[in-house]
Formats: sequence, C-alpha cells, structure tokens
Amino acid sequence: HNDFRQQVESVAALAKAQATAPLDLAIVLPTLNERDNIAPMVERLEKALGPAGWEAVFVDDNSHDGTAEEARRIGRSDPRIRVIQRIGRRGLASAAIEGMCATAAPYVAVMDADHQHDPALLVDMLAAVKSGEADLAYASRFAVGGNADGLSSKGREKGSKVANALARKLTGTELTDAMSGFFLLRTDQLRKQAENLSGIGFKIMLDILATAQPRLKVKEFPLKFAERLAGESKLDHGVVLDFIAGLAERYFGKWLPTRFVLFGMVGGLGVFVHMAVLAAIYWPQTVAFGWAQAIATMVAMTFNFWLNNMLTYRDKKLGGADGMFWGWLKFCGACSVGAFANVAVATVLEEQGMLWWSAALVGVVIASVWNYALSSKFVWGR
Ligand code: GDD
Ligand code: MN
Repeated sequence: HNDFRQQVESVAALAKAQATAPLDLAIVLPTLNERDNIAPMVERLEKALGPAGWEAVFVDDNSHDGTAEEARRIGRSDPRIRVIQRIGRRGLASAAIEGMCATAAPYVAVMDADHQHDPALLVDMLAAVKSGEADLAYASRFAVGGNADGLSSKGREKGSKVANALARKLTGTELTDAMSGFFLLRTDQLRKQAENLSGIGFKIMLDILATAQPRLKVKEFPLKFAERLAGESKLDHGVVLDFIAGLAERYFGKWLPTRFVLFGMVGGLGVFVHMAVLAAIYWPQTVAFGWAQAIATMVAMTFNFWLNNMLTYRDKKLGGADGMFWGWLKFCGACSVGAFANVAVATVLEEQGMLWWSAALVGVVIASVWNYALSSKFVWGR
C-alpha cells in the first residue's frame, strides 16, 4: 500500500513539474546487456538535468539480461523513462537513429548507457546548441582537459587514435574525437538528414556531420572518459569490422550497397577456401575429382554462410542450432541455383564465341547478384 501510494505521489509530483517545464531534451541511450547500469544512469540524469524537461529513451536490442524490462520497471513509475525494444535487429548506429527519431523533444542527445560518458556535460552542451553557438555539441576524449583513461586497453587506445586520424583525413573535419558517441543537436536537424544516414557501424556522429548540408558548426567539450560501471564493452570484437564496413559504405556506398560489397568479399574468400580444400583432397589422389569438387563446394558454401552471418548480416545474425541449420539449408539452396545459372550462362556465351575468361566472369557476376538477392530476401530477410 505504502509502495503504491509513494508511486502515485511521485508520479503526481512529476506531472506537476512537467506542467511547468515542457519537454526540452531527449537523451537516447542505446543498450545491449546494460541492466545494472540503467537505474544509476536515471539517477545521474536526474541529478544533472533536474526533475523535468527531459526524457530518456533507452533503445535496447532485445538484451538477454533483462535490460529492457529493467528500464520499463522504472518507466512504470517515472514517465520520463521510455523504452524501445527492437527484435531481430542489431547495431549501435541504427539504434541511435531510431531513438532520435522517436522523441517529441526539440533537442536530442545520444550517449552510452555504461557510464563512460558523464551526463553532467549535457547541461553545457544543451546551452551551446540552444544559444546558437553551435549546431552540434559533442564530448571529446582527446580535447584539452579530456582523457581516454577508460579505454579498456592500450591497443584499443592506439586503434582509436589511428581510426580518428583516418576519419579526419576522410571527412576533412578538425574534430579531435571523430568517433565520439556522445553528442547533442536539434532534433529537426537530425530528422532532416535521417534518410541519408547509413545506420551501419558505430560512427553515427561522423555520419551526421558528413551528410549535413550546409555544414554544421561544432563545439567540443572535453570528456574524462570513465571506466564502465557494470557489464562489458560490446565493441571490442566488432570494432574493427564495424570500421571496415563504415569505410566500405563511404567509398562504395554511392554505387553499390555495402552489404553487396561485403557479400562479394566473402564470396572471394570462399573461392580460396574452395581451391584450398580441393588441393588438399584431390592432390594426394585420395578421391575422384567429382567427389573432391563436391566436398570443396560444400565446405566453401558452409564457410560463406558462416562468414556472411558474422559479417555481412551481423545486424540480422541467425542464432541457435535450429536457426543456423535452416539458414544454412536455404543458403545452400540459393547458391546451387546460382551455381547452375553460372555454368549455364557461361557455357552459352562461350559457345556464342565469347572469350572463355570473360564468359566465366559474366557467369560469376550473374551468380553473385542472384545469390545476394536470394539470400538477402530468404535467408536473412525478415
Ligand atoms: N541497441 C544497441 N545495439 N546498443 C548497443 C549495441 C547494439 O548493437 N552495441 C553497443 N551498444 C550500446 C552499449 O550497451 C553501450 O550503452 C553503448 O552502446 C556503447 O557500447 P560499448 O560497448 O560500451 O562501446 P565502447 O565503450 O567500447 O565504445 C565507445 O567508444 C567508441 C569509440 O571508440 C563508445 O563511446 C562508442 O560510442 C564510440 O564510438
Ligand atoms: Mn563503453
């Protein structure tokens, strides 16, 4: 009873405060297994921003530790706390974009939920954008007065610096920390550009700055990058892959979808695997060529399925024995039709007098496009 009464009272107090302070700022917090960080984060936001005028939007990719439920639990007695629970999707950048598009607040910030970013900075960041001093305010680990002490390893720190330098070269920006995940801007500015953002990788702020027309005025705030409070980093393993995917998107994205480029790269590796297996079992004359070829095809196809699942379709990754088995079966099905088309087209073209290697190349291209289209739709499509 007391509990219920307390809840009613706190909701009433909030409603009253909100009537005097309309919604001004939304803080978007992408989460993947951050349950124990949620309640302390809400507390710190309240401490930094006061009782009203803000909301927190947790965008959770269906964490298995109950992150979304923990945020909903708080949200039941605190309407400032909102949750978007995404099923079957992955990715820091796309989570941030979705969260930013889901608020009615005129200003929006994105920050990590693991306490490596200090919410106290939000106040000055908001003031800078509100006053027009900047179009985008962001927190930099490498600005004077900031530090990167919270980076989990020396290797990571080096990697971060290299990626930074590269990003600066590519985009021609003067930012000291182009990979920062802590920034604030006007929401209508974001909405204006949302269609042009890639949603791939984790360099979301860089993407916003690169696609803004006209260029945004940026102000840096030094950030003391803290250790994460609970849980572990999600970017340690994927960070390099994400960066490669981001670069591919930037260079080829205009002409070719990044997924197709990655699919093609995986296919190229598959050819190597195929030849290696063939050499290993056919060379010592252990089996007939037909069998060796069949085995090599199966191994290469399985390898390609696995790598595409890990890399090309990372954000739609199939899991569980059942999901993997059916996915693999469908992938093999798609690829056999592709292989058949490859052989048929190449043979006809060669008979028509086309040079053997260009006929083969046309066959390979047709098969790749076919395999890509089919597996995008039927293996990893939802
Ligand atoms: N929804 C969702 N989906 N959230 C995610 C995902 C995802 O696929 N991956 C990570 N997150 C969330 C985490 O739960 C955390 O709140 C935040 O995004 C940052 O993830 P971390 O795993 O803690 O990243 P980090 O600390 O290693 O990386 C930091 O440095 C990068 C540059 O070096 C972050 O600040 C990044 O934003 C930054 O780009
Ligand atoms: Mn972190």
